[in-house]
Amino acid sequence: MEQMTAKTEKKNGEGVKLDTLKITDSRTGKQYEIPIQDDTVKAIDLRQIKVNSDDFGLMTYDPAFMNTASCKSKITFIDGDKGILLYRGYPIEQLAEKRSYLEVAYLILNGELPEKKQLTEWTEHVRMHTFVHENVKRLMEGFRYDAHPMGIFVSTLAALSTFYPEAKNVLDADTRQKQIWRLIGKVPTIAAFAYRHSLGMPYVYPDNDLSYSENFLSMMFRVAELKYKPNPVLAKALDVLFILHADHEQNCSANTMRSIGSSQADPYCAAAGAAAALYGPLHGGANEAVLRMLDEIASKDKVPAFIKDVKEGKGRLMGFGHRIYKNYDPRATIIKKMADEVFEVMGKNPKLEIALELERIALQDDYFVKRKLYPNVDFYSGLIYQAMKFPVDMFPVLFAIGRMSGWLAQWQEMLTDPEQKIARPRQVYLGYQRRNL
Ligand code: CMC
Repeated sequence: MEQMTAKTEKKNGEGVKLDTLKITDSRTGKQYEIPIQDDTVKAIDLRQIKVNSDDFGLMTYDPAFMNTASCKSKITFIDGDKGILLYRGYPIEQLAEKRSYLEVAYLILNGELPEKKQLTEWTEHVRMHTFVHENVKRLMEGFRYDAHPMGIFVSTLAALSTFYPEAKNVLDADTRQKQIWRLIGKVPTIAAFAYRHSLGMPYVYPDNDLSYSENFLSMMFRVAELKYKPNPVLAKALDVLFILHADHEQNCSANTMRSIGSSQADPYCAAAGAAAALYGPLHGGANEAVLRMLDEIASKDKVPAFIKDVKEGKGRLMGFGHRIYKNYDPRATIIKKMADEVFEVMGKNPKLEIALELERIALQDDYFVKRKLYPNVDFYSGLIYQAMKFPVDMFPVLFAIGRMSGWLAQWQEMLTDPEQKIARPRQVYLGYQRRNL
């Protein structure tokens, strides 16, 4: 299958010729020719542009990485204008319909979908690592009864670092692979324990006869039954939600995972940092914020007044807008369709009416149209989670379970990329020059 390759080298009669960018520095009148590769110029190539030999050289200034590629990647492709999302080249719609989360996690991590034998082995490895050390459980018991589950989740991920000291050996492929099995296997267990802790209910140990998402439902909701029987529609919906959240190229938390990992910290500490980045309401915390927003709006007739407030700068319409998508988020389309199946089993979420009205009005309103603000993955996911009886503060944790495969793939790709080094941006210093006391 064809890979995306650079439009770098144009063959002409004289052989291979690189595309270049010609720059004239108006300060000195000097001209420079900078190579263009993969539709990018290397920021370091600008360093040669100096006013005099003492000059440090030109840098780029790009707060929030609006126009800076920090890496080369083969994992996920997004076309934000067309609303396209591909994992390793496969459209998200096809993967969500035809594959399981564990197959997709394997694909994201390894580049290809697993053959039958590879899937059996991969599933077995993940399954073998679903249990956590009893001391991890005891550590989790130390949190306050009302601790936010995402706080518990972040802290417990970091604590795993102390249980697996060999994980520090990040340059060894076998060691990395073992931590990948452990992290993918253990995150549902930690997430479910965090939830049970908030209810004061006994933790339910993994049931390895069940699939990845079925086992998670069992650890969340099993009470006194000998064997938990998950509803197949809900288990499938959860599995699809994990797929939709599995990776999203260089988002805030993936960038955090790479950044922490670039110092060769172990993957538990890096994943804890990534999960902490995800927790914020502008990122994975948005699904929780959407539900709180819908609660605040309370009824359909209050939607116009709410939209007016947003346009006047009094808060944001949560679950709308995206740095990359300037069209409908394809994940939101899949979730919206799937919602009907979940509502058929669990009853309709009464907040759906408010969400649909918000979407209807916003998609016609000039403010949102001009800024290309469309529903993102978080707009409808919370409604499904709530219908499935997940409490609102568990929503970012559910996002994190699916995203673990993406974080680990990004981390591994970074560590094996010879062009990567410790992440260390520059700054434009605008403070005092040296002064004396
Ligand atoms: N409601 C109202 N106005 C908005 C919104 C929104 N949700 N999002 C962006 N805008 C406006 C913003 O005020 C700005 O207007 P102006 O040009 O007049 O100043 C313009 O649109 C561009 O916004 P921005 O903040 O410069 O865009 P960004 O690319 O930096 O931010 C975003 C992207 C996702 C943080 C932002 O759209 C947002 O805050 N959305 C709400 C939170 C949310 O749903 N986050 C989940 C993102 S999807 C899941 C994930 O991958 O994390």
